[in-house]
Amino acid sequence: MLDHARFPTLAAAAQACRVCHACPLYQYATQAVFGEGPSHARLMLVGEQPGDEEDRRGHPFVGPAGALLDGALAEAGLSRDAVFVTNAVKHFKFVERGKRRLHEKPRAREIAACNPWLRDELRLVEPRMVVALGATASAALFGTKVSVMRDRGRVLSLALDGDAGEEVEAVLTIHPSAALRAPTSERRHELRDMLISDLRLAARQARLDA
Ligand code: URA
Repeated sequence: MLDHARFPTLAAAAQACRVCHACPLYQYATQAVFGEGPSHARLMLVGEQPGDEEDRRGHPFVGPAGALLDGALAEAGLSRDAVFVTNAVKHFKFVERGKRRLHEKPRAREIAACNPWLRDELRLVEPRMVVALGATASAALFGTKVSVMRDRGRVLSLALDGDAGEEVEAVLTIHPSAALRAPTSERRHELRDMLISDLRLAARQARLDA
C-alpha cells in the first residue's frame, strides 16, 4: 500500500501515479492522466476519466468534452488557466470496436482504487471550491448519497480526509459530455446552460467571478 501522505507536491504525486497498478485499467490505457492547473487554484474541477484524446495526449479535458467545458468556463467568466482540472479516475477505460476505442463507465471499485490520487490533489491544491462534473465525480467525492440532477445548483459541503472536520465547498453539475450527447439541440442548450449557471455559482463562491 502506498503512503499517499508522503507526497509533498503535486509533481511527486503525479510521478507516482504514472506507475499506479491499484486497479487493472493501467494495463490498457496509454498513460495515467493526472490533474493540471495552478498548484493552489481556488477552483478545482473534477471530471470522470480521460477520454480517447486525453489518453493519447496525457492531459485532462483536451478532447471534445474539453472544448465544450472551455466554452462554458468562458461564458461563466472563468479562465481555464485559473482552475485545476482533474478526473476521478486517472486511466481511460474503453472497449475496442474495430479501430475505435469507446468510453466505458468506470466501476465503483475502479473509482475507489483511484480515490487516493484525487484526495492527494485536494490536499495539495487546497481549493476553496470543488466542482464535480457528472455522476462519477459526484460519487467519487460524496459517495452514492448525492444525485446530480437533484443536488446541482447549490453549494454543498465536502468533507476532506485528514484533519478532523475539515470541509471545502462543492457544487455538483452535469458532465460536459452529457450536453454533447443530448439527443436534441434544445436539450443540448438546456444542459449547457445548467453547466454554465453552476460554474457561475462556483466562481462566485470561490470569488473568481469578474
Ligand atoms: N471526460 C472527462 O471526464 N475527463 C476528461 O479529461 C475528458 C473527458
